Amino acid sequence: MNSEQHWWQNAVVYQVYVRSFADANGDGVGDLAGIRNRVDYLAALGVDAIWLNPCYPSPQRDHGYDVANYLAIHDEYGDMDEFDALLAEAGDHGIKILMDLVPNHCSNDYQWFVDALAAPAGSAERARFYFRDGRPSDDGADPHGNPPNNWMAAFGGSAWTRVAADDPQWYLGTFTPHQPDFDHTNLDVQQMFAEVLEFWFDRGVEGFRVDAISPVGKDANLPDAPPVADGTDMLQVTWENPFTVFRPEGHDVWRRFRQTINDYMERHPGRDLMMVAEAYMNGRPDLMAAFVNDGQFHQAFAFDLLLSPWVKSEIERAIGDSLDIMRIGSTPTWTLNNHDVQRVVTRLGRASATDPNTVTNNALVVRDSNVDVDVGERRSRALISLAMALPGSLYLYMGEELGLPEVLDVPADRREDPVFHQTNGERIGRDGCRIPLPWTDDPTSAFGFSTVPSDASAPEPWLPQPEWWGQSAVTELDGVEGSTLELYRELIAARRDHATPQGLVAAVIQLGDGLVAVRRGDLAVVTNVTDTAIALDMSDPHLSIATPVFASEGAEMHTPGVIPPDATIWFVS
Ligand code: NOJ
Repeated sequence: MNSEQHWWQNAVVYQVYVRSFADANGDGVGDLAGIRNRVDYLAALGVDAIWLNPCYPSPQRDHGYDVANYLAIHDEYGDMDEFDALLAEAGDHGIKILMDLVPNHCSNDYQWFVDALAAPAGSAERARFYFRDGRPSDDGADPHGNPPNNWMAAFGGSAWTRVAADDPQWYLGTFTPHQPDFDHTNLDVQQMFAEVLEFWFDRGVEGFRVDAISPVGKDANLPDAPPVADGTDMLQVTWENPFTVFRPEGHDVWRRFRQTINDYMERHPGRDLMMVAEAYMNGRPDLMAAFVNDGQFHQAFAFDLLLSPWVKSEIERAIGDSLDIMRIGSTPTWTLNNHDVQRVVTRLGRASATDPNTVTNNALVVRDSNVDVDVGERRSRALISLAMALPGSLYLYMGEELGLPEVLDVPADRREDPVFHQTNGERIGRDGCRIPLPWTDDPTSAFGFSTVPSDASAPEPWLPQPEWWGQSAVTELDGVEGSTLELYRELIAARRDHATPQGLVAAVIQLGDGLVAVRRGDLAVVTNVTDTAIALDMSDPHLSIATPVFASEGAEMHTPGVIPPDATIWFVS
């Protein structure tokens, strides 16, 4: 693939975690009006699209990934008129909107599930989900006292919940008991999701990030999972289950979704709709190819780079594997952050980040608070400067342009993530990357997150902000030479001017120890992943007639033969 065919192939997409972006009505919770008020900020950053985390009605037990109504807006966030206003405002700035679709499960408050609980075993209502009879209890006293199989939930405990002590049946929830899994072989479910896609396309949404694709589609017999290897983390067990992860049955679901999208585009010429899959397929380019193709997903996140330690060979492998997707006519979808992982500044600021055997993820597991934030920020700046040069699209997570670190010390009684609660606090969960954004250094307005009506007192944001939060506020970085915010703005412009025009072909090249380098047309991008400066061999054919056009540590642009520690330079020949 050499030429750009679709807007999303090169897009910079900005992920908005709605609850934490901007609060326009002063209740401590982010909302759609807050986003609308900040569209000019996003436009000035230079993004092409916004991905909204789920903003449908939800009891918020997994902050929107427990949908109670797929066709409306959560009341804390606004209403459909506000949604339309946001779409219009974004459209006026040339910014598209992507929604988040959650097909694996709904909320246990979703009417279909409420109906299913009220209906008997074998009913049409229960057939939309996975209800199965339990197995006899260990002492034999209860014929249905044990779950139907041994599957474990992704956020802790059994994946099964018994309907009631006098009901023989249990239901399956891959994540939590509040998120019952749909059975996508059921026709009602199939039709419902087709309607949901069309409903939002009709409003003007340009595509969907599709949540948790790996457990969609299961072995119809739901057999016991084989034992996992000793030492497997308790929250990893679900993802080792061959009867529910990346099943062939899942492909049928995505083919139907794609057909709905294709049919819609056929009826609406000019629309260029897409869906991007969320699944951790790291180290499995073969899997990526099985899901990203003309019949299924347009894109899938290349999480390899996000998970990579700060090690040359690992970063090279992550880039090489992800570029591999171009072999089958697609483009990679890069990202360094999202609402499920610890922020990159923190991940790369740990001493363990240079250990080749470390997976720098994972919010669910890592508690280590021994972080050198300065080192982490420098490495993240170098890494985003590398990622911005690569072909494919790039998804940014709100606040990464401010260089925000993870907030690791959210008090236990303020933690909201079900991961924390389902594991009885054994895992700290993901609240630390979801802290409401700092827009100003004024703590009386939750650092500018909340618009406080003049007759009201400052609201308590839904997650507490640390007292030092204002240091990274937009107002503190805006216009400041060398700030991370200015770096992102420059990078997005440099990407447009120097990277995208180079086309879609790129490859990892070798320029020496400690250097990760990529060649894309006339552009050579070099990252020093060590803590000492490295002098480049400027006679290397990749560099001999090259001029530096961008550097993650600006002042070093003037000494182009040397790459400072943890820095990236772009050269154009
Ligand atoms: C992945 C989402 O990104 C995460 O936030 C959510 O908890 C799970 N899927 C379940 O929907």
